[in-house]
Order: sequence, then structure tokens, then C-alpha cells
Amino acid sequence: MDISVAIENIVEWETDAIVLNLFEGVTVPGGATGAVDAALNGQIRDLIAGGDFTGKFKEIAVLYPRGGISARRLLLVGLGKREEFTVDRVRQVSAAAARRARGLGAEQLATVVHGGGVGGLEVRAAAQAVVEGAVLGTYRFTPYKSGEDDDDNNELEGLTLVEFDAAKQTDVENGSNAGRIIAEAACLARDLASHPGNEMTPAILAGRAEAMARETGLRCEVFDDERIEAEGMRTIQAVAQGSAQPPRFIILEHDGEDPEAAPAVLIGKGITFDSGGISIKGSEGMWDMKFDMGGAAAVIGAMQAVARLDLPVRTIGLVAASENMPGSRALKPGDIIRSMLGKTIEIRSTDAEGRLVLADAVAYAARYKPCAAIDLATLTGACIIALGHEASGLFSNDDALASEIAAAGERTGEIAWRLPILDGHREQMKSDIADLKNTGGRGGGAITGAAFIEAFVQDFPWAHLDIAGTAWAQKDLPHIPRGGTGVGVRLLVDLLRNKENAPEPL
Ligand code: BES
Ligand code: MN
Ligand code: ZN
Repeated sequence: MDISVAIENIVEWETDAIVLNLFEGVTVPGGATGAVDAALNGQIRDLIAGGDFTGKFKEIAVLYPRGGISARRLLLVGLGKREEFTVDRVRQVSAAAARRARGLGAEQLATVVHGGGVGGLEVRAAAQAVVEGAVLGTYRFTPYKSGEDDDDNNELEGLTLVEFDAAKQTDVENGSNAGRIIAEAACLARDLASHPGNEMTPAILAGRAEAMARETGLRCEVFDDERIEAEGMRTIQAVAQGSAQPPRFIILEHDGEDPEAAPAVLIGKGITFDSGGISIKGSEGMWDMKFDMGGAAAVIGAMQAVARLDLPVRTIGLVAASENMPGSRALKPGDIIRSMLGKTIEIRSTDAEGRLVLADAVAYAARYKPCAAIDLATLTGACIIALGHEASGLFSNDDALASEIAAAGERTGEIAWRLPILDGHREQMKSDIADLKNTGGRGGGAITGAAFIEAFVQDFPWAHLDIAGTAWAQKDLPHIPRGGTGVGVRLLVDLLRNKENAPEPL
């Protein structure tokens, strides 16, 4: 989608459809909506007076202006109650409108910046959310669709943010540009997660990371299976050993302003298919374990945005990519392996593989002396039991980092909800015959998973996001169509963009 900004009167803007807005309960519209209403001889006021449009959040009315304005169609969207208005609502409203316009056959769309005027939001943030909503909401995963039998194959080609006030031009342009970069990065993560296991092996995932790095100017290094062995990353090797697909360890580097600075390190679980291994999963729904590299997808997506926005903060992305398969060479329950740090691990379930690959990835992160390291993983079904699909689980050894992450989650609508790691949880992960075991019993399954990873964190601020419930959408939301959600990308980028304002540690 081409995205542009125009300083114009939207009444005179020629296009397939324009998007205007209304708060709930407003009877006489102001701003751009008021100007268009006047040009249409009060058609919008009639719609409100007749009770046909109340301004409820995400409500949409379509009007055909018959020449009163230059656009062919007018989409009026409800912003909901003024006191409940947020940037995230802008994102959702913009997504709903873009989707509707596409469904109506529009190719060119123009919109006002919802909330940038009377809505009282920061213009830049509002413009960013408008663009994010439109790009995220019209995303489709189509590489495997041949197309002929689809009735809804219209694509939105262009979106123009039309702003009347020239004084807001720079803010609208900056916001729009950031919104496009960030939303496209989230769409990259969605793509990576949505590809099936046979088309997204560790080697293919590494190839995609390398291609992205070439395009954006990031440094990228990929360890193959031999190098992984040579580095002593035994936990990654152990998970991969049952599969015909060799593992990969991917390193992406963005220097920022100071290549010597303590970096933020982002770490992704990249299980390209999780069958459970010898502790095999039931076949019901096993297909969706193709998205078990959602954490890796988020890290690669976030790194793309970090590079394109050229953020000042030095950032490293690490991805541990492997399949988890049964087979005659596969890891077995009861096996004991020695991690890169020397800690021994008793394997109780080969299905608790994410924490294994993360153990050596988190250990590897230490060499960068990170100012903060954050891992993202579709780690536990237990996290879905705890939080459903509404929030990611957040765990941290650092209160300041945890609250920065939670705040970034609030701002982006990618909610992260903190759960504790207590000494008792750490006890649950102790093995009788090794240092640790990889499962901790029924109680607190999301927490014990986090406690296991924590055992490999050497003295730096660390956080773990369990995105098992949030990385894959079962039902359509306006800005999150079914499938891979790209969760984590917008949160991470928001966090890194706000580094300047943040207290320690980031
Ligand atoms: N990838 C799964 C977790 C998962 C389950 C993500 C459902 C998304 C949806 C993970 O590798 C796993 O199998 N975890 C086990 C851990 C258990 C064996 C301690 C689980 O959650 O059952
Ligand atoms: Mn598993
Ligand atoms: Zn898994």
C-alpha cells in the first residue's frame, strides 16, 4: 500500500472513498466531519438525528455523496465515548474502515487523522496509529492461494492522510512514516509465523533473516549445526537431533549511535514445528505448532523496524531455530544434557523444548553485556490457561524493565501482564540427579517455564514474554486478522523508541 500525506481540504479530495469520524453522542459534528456535513447539506446530521448512526466504537456508515464532495464514497466511523478514546482505538477504527473500504471495491482511500484534532491525541502518535491500523487491518496471507476462486480479492493500493492544518504536516508525516515501517515489520513477522513447517524450516528462516538484513543494512551471522556444536550450544543441538532439518542460530546486529554501548538483546524461540518430539503431542490441532517460531518472527520483524527507523539504540537479535521431531536419534525423556554454561538438565518432557533452546540463547546473550535482554516465546499452554488470548505473560528479574515493557504493551495494545517467579517455583525445576529438570509439574506452568530460562541469565536485566496465547489469532479483530499476529514487534519497537525517556535499565 502506498501511503502519502496531503495538506488539503478533504471536502475537495478526489478519491474512491474518504474516512471521517464521530464521537459517540455528538449530534452536531465539528472539524473535517462538520465541514463535509455542511458540504452535504446536513446529511451526516440527518443520519445521527434519525438514529442510524450513534458513533459507537467501530460503527461504520457508508454514504454516497452525489457530488456534494469530490470523493465517491464517505465512510463515517464511530470513535466511541470520548472519555474512553485512546491511540489503540484509533488503530482499530482505522483498520475497520480500511477493511470496509477494500470490501466495497475502493482502491484509493483518504482519511483524516482520527484524534489529531478535537480528539486531543498527540498528532504524531495518532497519524502513526492510523497508518498502522490500515496496514495491519488489510493484511492477508496469500502466498498459497492461487486466487481464482476468491470473491474478495480487491486490494487497497493507496492511503492518503489528508490534513487541513499545514502546521501539523511534519508530525503527520513523521507519524505516518513510523507507522508504515512498524506495521510492515509486524506483517513480516505474521508472514514468517504463518508459513507452514515445510516452507519455514530453520534454514529457510535463517535465509529470510539474512535477506532482511541485506535489505536494511543490518549485520547478520548464521551458525549452522557444526558451528552450534563448536560453540557448545548443546541444548539447541539436543532439541534438533531428532529432525532431518539441521538447526540454525541467527544473530542480527544494529549498531545504533554507539556500537560500543551496552545493547538491548532480543531473543526469539524459533521452533519451526513442534510435534512434541518423543513426548509427542496429540494429533488434534497439532498443525498449529507451525507457529511455534512466533517469538523468532517477532525478533526478526522488530530488527527490521529498528534498522529502518535507524534507532539510536544498539540492538542485537538472537534466534534459536530448530524443529522438534521424534525419531531414532531424538532426545528422550530421562536424557541428561549439559548446557553451554555447564548446568546439567534432566529432560522430563521433550515437549518442553522451547526453554531448552532458549537456555543456550540466553546464555549466549551474556557476551554482549546487555543493558537488557528480552526473550519472546510461544512457551507454554499454561500461559493460555492463565491469561487467555488477551495478554502475553511477562516475567522479569528487574522491576524497572518489567514496568517499561508493560507500559509499551499498554501504548501498543499488545498487553503484557506480569506474573511472579518465586523461590518455590525455582524449587519446582530442581532435578534429583541433575541441576535442573525441564518441567516443573502441574502448578504454575507458565511461571516454571520462565524460572527455567531465568536459571541461564547471568547478571543482566532480563524479561521473558510468553506469547503462546497471543501469537496466533483464532478470530478476526479489526487490526489483527486470523493467523499469525506479529505480536511483540510493535511492543518491542515502542520500548526501544522510548529508551531515551526511560529510567534504568533501558
Ligand atoms: N509450543 C508449546 C507451547 C504452546 C502450546 C504454544 C499451545 C501455543 C499453544 C511448548 O513447546 C510446549 O509444548 N509446552 C508444554 C510444556 C510442558 C511439557 C511443560 C505445554 O505447554 O504443555
Ligand atoms: Mn513443545
Ligand atoms: Zn514449543
